[in-house]
Amino acid sequence: MSGLRIGVLASGTGTNLQAILDQLHGRDGIEVVAVGSDKPEARALERAREAGIEAEVFPRDAHPSREARDLAIADWLEGRRVELVVLAGYMQLLSPEFVRRFADRVLNVHPALLPSFPGLDAIGQALGHGVRITGVTVHFVDEGVDTGPILLQRPVPIPPDRDRAALEEAIHATEHVLLPEAVRLIAAGRVSIQPGSRLVRIASE
Ligand code: GRF
Repeated sequence: MSGLRIGVLASGTGTNLQAILDQLHGRDGIEVVAVGSDKPEARALERAREAGIEAEVFPRDAHPSREARDLAIADWLEGRRVELVVLAGYMQLLSPEFVRRFADRVLNVHPALLPSFPGLDAIGQALGHGVRITGVTVHFVDEGVDTGPILLQRPVPIPPDRDRAALEEAIHATEHVLLPEAVRLIAAGRVSIQPGSRLVRIASE
């Protein structure tokens, strides 16, 4: 594959979007061409506009249903010829129709070593469980919650004093490396999902 047109969905501050913009956007044919959010106040939208990227809000209450909202997002992304959708802190569950339309082309970053601690507040779940190591997972999105095929994982030790702010900082710093690394691998055409299995193969260079 030469180059990759990326759409990013984000609900929050967008530091993962920023990592992609800083490390990948405009290099080796990789272009972020669309940034969408469910939240009009998401800082991620500002970051996109500052980088000259088209940004759009899809509030839930502007559409009759979640499915209708997701259909509008899918149409918008396809209209911009997006080849890979990256969920960078997108706090909405995508409907099965959306996932089918972008089958094996939606990537998510999750702040835990899946399949441990899926869903909301993965960092709090890890602290509450008493694990000594947690981490970051980048995975393809299927119709479940954080259940799709795993592309990359990196461990992050729990700080000895179990300080939440320190752990959050370490997890975010790891996300900002791992998510761009995953996108780079896909753009280089090195990633394939084994047909009929959940296994992701990464071809060597
Ligand atoms: C990240 O920790 C991501 O793993 C989680 O939401 C957070 C988003 O942070 N799903 P940001 O908006 O990229 O700064």
